Amino acid sequence: MKKNRGRFIVLEGLDGSGTTTQTRHLAKWLEDQNLTVKKTFEPTDGPVGKLIRNVLSRKPVSSDSNTPASFSEDALCLLFAADRIEHSHQIREWQAGGRDVVCDRYVHSSIAYQSLGPSISAERVVETNRGVAVPDLTIFLDIPVEACLERLQGRNESPSVYEKKNILAQIHRNYLKTAALYAEHFGPIYTVDGSRSVAEVTEAIKVIVGKLRKGVSR
Ligand code: TYD
Repeated sequence: MKKNRGRFIVLEGLDGSGTTTQTRHLAKWLEDQNLTVKKTFEPTDGPVGKLIRNVLSRKPVSSDSNTPASFSEDALCLLFAADRIEHSHQIREWQAGGRDVVCDRYVHSSIAYQSLGPSISAERVVETNRGVAVPDLTIFLDIPVEACLERLQGRNESPSVYEKKNILAQIHRNYLKTAALYAEHFGPIYTVDGSRSVAEVTEAIKVIVGKLRKGVSR
């Protein structure tokens, strides 16, 4: 018997906004309803994603070098897109196999983060990402920059190049400013107030995903 196509749901937001925690809670909630779910994330843990993570945390990219790798903004934008194109093949397979896919970050991250500098416009990022799997739903966890920074301070990880107040503030503006452009190319996007408790945010996400499940014939 042919399996129904799984849905593809993305969680987006600033560093520290809670996308990783909420991806986990959403996947668990779907699993509790006997759905098969694939939880995933970007940058991926594939070869390109690993390279990107090393670059973002200023780590050397190979064992025979102590020099942190750095890339120009446009090369980095292409790396994120290459990682996503590979990921998209997997996402489509998971969906075809009837699994719901819940992804921590996707194209809107590229639009908001890679268009920080003057050389790359949001439209160019959209262009670079043409042909990737299109989500059924994207949820943006909106949270003030100050709250993100407070949460990030409590973490035990090497900070990424973006974790500075003025940079996060610009990324936040980019997310809001490019929501319509994103929706035009990558499907519906909803905003959830991410500054509430974890449980309250999870509830808000469940309401939105619940509506999608009723509305989409499978
Ligand atoms: P990650 O470990 O996922 O951060 P967090 O758990 O806080 O979300 O690191 C991903 C970093 O990569 C994050 O700073 C955002 C950035 N990023 C981009 O700049 N462009 C992209 O397309 C993606 C997917 C992530």
